[in-house]
Amino acid sequence: MNIKKICCIGAGYVGGPTMAVIAQKNPNIKVTVVDINEKKINLWNSKDLKNLPVYEPGLDKVIEEVRGQNLFFSTKIEENIRESQMIFISVNTPTKTYGDGMGMAADLRYVELCARKIAEVSKSDKIVVEKSTLPVKTASAIKAILDETGSGVNFEILSNPEFLAEGTAMRDLEIPDRVLIGGGQNKSGLEAINALVKIYSSWVPTKNILTTNLWSSELSKLVANAFLAQRISSINSISELCEKTGANITEVSKAIGMDSRIGSKFLNASVGFGGSCFQKDILNLVYISKSLGLDEVSEFWNQVIIMNNHQRDRFSKNILKKLYNTIADKEITILGWSFKKDTNDSRESAAIYISKNLLQEKAKIRVYDPKVKRTQIVNDLLTANISKNLIEKNVEIFDNVNLACEGSHAVAIITEWDQFKDLNWDSIYEKMKKPAFVFDGRNILDKTKLENIGFKYNGIGV
Ligand code: UDX
Ligand code: UDX
Repeated sequence: MNIKKICCIGAGYVGGPTMAVIAQKNPNIKVTVVDINEKKINLWNSKDLKNLPVYEPGLDKVIEEVRGQNLFFSTKIEENIRESQMIFISVNTPTKTYGDGMGMAADLRYVELCARKIAEVSKSDKIVVEKSTLPVKTASAIKAILDETGSGVNFEILSNPEFLAEGTAMRDLEIPDRVLIGGGQNKSGLEAINALVKIYSSWVPTKNILTTNLWSSELSKLVANAFLAQRISSINSISELCEKTGANITEVSKAIGMDSRIGSKFLNASVGFGGSCFQKDILNLVYISKSLGLDEVSEFWNQVIIMNNHQRDRFSKNILKKLYNTIADKEITILGWSFKKDTNDSRESAAIYISKNLLQEKAKIRVYDPKVKRTQIVNDLLTANISKNLIEKNVEIFDNVNLACEGSHAVAIITEWDQFKDLNWDSIYEKMKKPAFVFDGRNILDKTKLENIGFKYNGIGV
C-alpha cells in the first residue's frame, strides 16, 4: 500500500516531534497532526517558533522547514481521519486515578475514544498505528472496537512504540537505535507492516527496522523503559551504600560501566528518575504481572519504584538533617524544575516531590528553571496537593538564577541544566546565608572547588 496521507491523533511530546520528522523525510506524504486541545494546536501553528508547545533542541528548525508544506496541525479530527490511509494514535495514557487498577494500570479511555472515532468516521480501509505506550494486548481491544463499530471497512492494527527521549528527541528520531513495528502475521497484517517500514526506510537503514508480532512489540516498549529505570534505581541504591562506606558512586559507576556487558550509559546517580514514562510503564508492568498471578515478577519490578521514591525522600531528609534538623522558615533554592535538562517537561519531576517534602517541613522555597513556566510550577504543586495558600506564602519563582540564590540557606540542584555548572559560585556564596549549603542532586559541580569557596557541599553517593 502506498501511503499518501497520514493523520496523527495527539499533538504532544511524542506526536508533534515524531510527525515533524516523518513529514520532513517523506515530502510526498501529507501529514496532519490533530488534537482536541485547540490552544495547543494554535501554539503549534504560531508564527514565532519560540511559542511551540514542546521545547526540543532542533525542533523549531524542522517545523519551520515543513509546516505548511506537508505538515499541518489541525483540530479537524474527523475530516483528517477520513482522508488518511494511516492513523497514528499518540494520545496520553496516564496511570489510572480511579477504580480497578487505580494508581497502577494505564488509563485507556483516550485510546478507546480514538478507536471509536476512527470506526465512526472511516469510509475506507485504514492502518491504525499505536504510538502511545500501551499494555500488552491493547491492540486486540482496539481491533474489536474498530471491527464491531466500524462500517465494514478493513482495519489493520500496528504497534510502533516510540523510544525517543525528551531533550534529545530530534536526534533520537533522526538516528534511532531501532524502529520497532509489530503487526499481524497474516497477509494483510504483513502488508500493513511493509507500508510503515517503507515510510521509515526513507531515512532509517533497513537493518535498524525491526518487525515482530503485535504482542512482542507492545511488551518490548514497557520492558525497555523498565530496564532503563531499573538501572537508575540500582545505581541509586548503591549511592546510599557509598555514603555510608566512603566509596564514591562516580568511581563505582565508571568501574562497573567499563565492563562491556554492563555498559556505561544510564548509570548516573541522581535525585531519582522522573518523566511521564518510567513510573507509569513500570506500574503498568507490575499491574499486568499481578493480574496474571505472577506475584514474584510483579514484586521484582515494584522494587524499582520503591527505590526511586526512597531516593527522593532521602534527598529532602538529608537537607533537613544537614540544616540542623529544622528548616522551618529557612530559604531553600531549588535549581531546576524539569525532570531532566533540555526539556520544559516537568511531569513526575523529582523537584515536585522534594519541594513538597520541604514545604511540609515549613521551609520557604525559591525556584528557578530556565524553561519551565511559572504557571506550570504552580500547577504541579497544586496537583501534588500543596494548598494555594501555602504556595502563595512559601513559594517564590524566579526568572533570574542569581536572585533565586540570594539570601538562601541552601541551594538544591535537582535538574542537571548545563548553565548551573557555570554559575559564578563565588558571588552566589557571598550573597547566601552562612553556613551556605549546596545539595547537588546530580553530582554536576566540582566538590573541591565549592568547598574551597566555603560551601558545605553534599552530593549523591560521594
Ligand atoms: C503520550 C503518552 O503519554 C505516552 O504513553 C505515549 O508513549 C505517547 O503519547 P505525550 O506525547 O508525552 O505521550 O503526551 P502529551 O504530551 O500529553 O500529548 C497527548 C496529546 O493527546 C495531548 O495534546 C491531548 O490533548 C491529546 N488528546 C488526548 C487528544 O487529542 N484526544 C484525546 O482523546 C486525548
Ligand atoms: C524515557 C526513555 O529513555 C525513552 O526511550 C522512552 O521513549 C521514554 O522514556 P525520557 O523519560 O524522555 O525517556 O528521559 P530519560 O533520558 O530516559 O530520563 C528519565 C529520567 O531518568 C530523568 O529524570 C533522568 O534525569 C533520569 N536519569 C537518567 C537518571 O537519573 N540517571 C541516568 O543515568 C539517566
